[in-house]
Amino acid sequence: MSAAVKKGNYDIADINLAEKGRFRMQWAGREMPVLDLLAERFHRERPFAGVRLAAAMHVTSETANLMRILIAGGAEISLCASNPLSTQDDIAAALVAYYEMPVYAIKGETTGQYNDHLNAALDTRPHLTMDDGMDLVAMLHTQRNDLLDDVVGGTEETTTGVIRLKAMAAQGKLAFPVIAVNDAMTKHFFDNRYGTGQSTLDGLIRATNVLMAGKTFVVGGYGWCSKGIAMRAKGLGANVIVTEVDPLRALEAVMDGFQVMPMLKAAMVGHIFCAATGGMHIFDGHHMEVMRDGAILANSGHFDVEINLKALGKMSTSITRVRDFLDEYTLEDGRRLYVAGEGRLVNLAAAEGHPSAVMDMSFANQALAAEYLLQHGDEMSGNVYDMPEKLDREIAALKLSAMDVEIDTLSAEQEMYLNEWTLGTAISDSDL
Ligand SMILES: NC(=O)c1ccc[n+]([C@@H]2O[C@H](COP(=O)([O-])OP(=O)(O)OC[C@H]3O[C@@H](n4cnc5c(N)ncnc54)[C@H](O)[C@@H]3O)[C@@H](O)[C@H]2O)c1
Repeated sequence: MSAAVKKGNYDIADINLAEKGRFRMQWAGREMPVLDLLAERFHRERPFAGVRLAAAMHVTSETANLMRILIAGGAEISLCASNPLSTQDDIAAALVAYYEMPVYAIKGETTGQYNDHLNAALDTRPHLTMDDGMDLVAMLHTQRNDLLDDVVGGTEETTTGVIRLKAMAAQGKLAFPVIAVNDAMTKHFFDNRYGTGQSTLDGLIRATNVLMAGKTFVVGGYGWCSKGIAMRAKGLGANVIVTEVDPLRALEAVMDGFQVMPMLKAAMVGHIFCAATGGMHIFDGHHMEVMRDGAILANSGHFDVEINLKALGKMSTSITRVRDFLDEYTLEDGRRLYVAGEGRLVNLAAAEGHPSAVMDMSFANQALAAEYLLQHGDEMSGNVYDMPEKLDREIAALKLSAMDVEIDTLSAEQEMYLNEWTLGTAISDSDL
């Protein structure tokens, strides 16, 4: 990596990567027609004029396109990473060079740098926060609460962030409204399932180049992300085992045709393990004790705690980086276990995150949620809010139209039938 360039109002790896970043940003933009439609309106209406927005997001080509349309709407944005390994350095450079945006993000940054970068993004005294994992909200409520008065509201991109925000709100500790963008249907139905599904397999393949066909692939969880991973691993010919703690989700996995069993049993037979639960230690020391030589472990949940790396480190006599984003842990008994992407989100650490077409919808939600907070923030309180359903459906309709897909609308007769409780029942005299 080139020496970091520091100029006070940004901290990135290498400004010379800007042109490459701009081309990649434009390439991603081609798959983001919904953002383009919003950009046209934002350009005309300037809903974010004079608004300072701090964003802690994965600094990828898709995020850059979100930033581009918010800037078109007048926003003044500071951006930092939401994960130390997920930054695309060329994109960070393009945002600084072509959009004069203060960006604080370097792929592989230390925990100290990561925290400095969050602080730097907050130094702009934001009116709005945009989080992917609640880092800005957490920092604002702890170390930087002098800034709380300026904040109108925030948005949250991922499941893990939403869970924590809801816990904060339940304790009455959330000082401003946050819209759970993750919970919009046009986000988690598509981004978590199809986006994480495809990009996690992409990350695993880039990190290892192993053939999936014929392997036993163990997926931790059967939630939105993990069912996408299971589906794509199956599509590549792997024999997929699912582990769950929720009986409903476990039953769904069984009915979808997967083997379901406790992790300790799966650990004995798996070749490849990937968790995306939002929980911790899905692959724990006692599981690693029984894993076969050569087993590969990865995580696609938000934090790097799904694999118990501390336990694995303690059990190991050596740790060697054998490929980019693949570490070999040699255990005392000679077995070798491999960890992809240092146990961080493998789709962002070893690949490029979600494909743009899916982020188009997630980020349309982000942009519309930010606009909604500016319009309605003063009527809202320190709580976690759902994305208004009207906006969710508007995004789905825009996406369909951008894909040239037409759908039917209810006829007046059909609408009346659905809204009239007497029709079609025993008391109805209609002979429909
Ligand atoms: N990799 C990415 O790009 C990406 C994208 C979106 C979300 N995420 C993250 O992925 C994680 C999961 O998100 P989701 O939307 O799928 O959540 P979800 O709530 O839909 O699914 C999580 C599932 O994990 C199960 N689970 C919890 N603990 C478990 C355990 N010990 N063993 C087995 N199963 C267990 C739960 O029962 C649930 O079914 C979150 O951390 C989220 O922030 C990652």
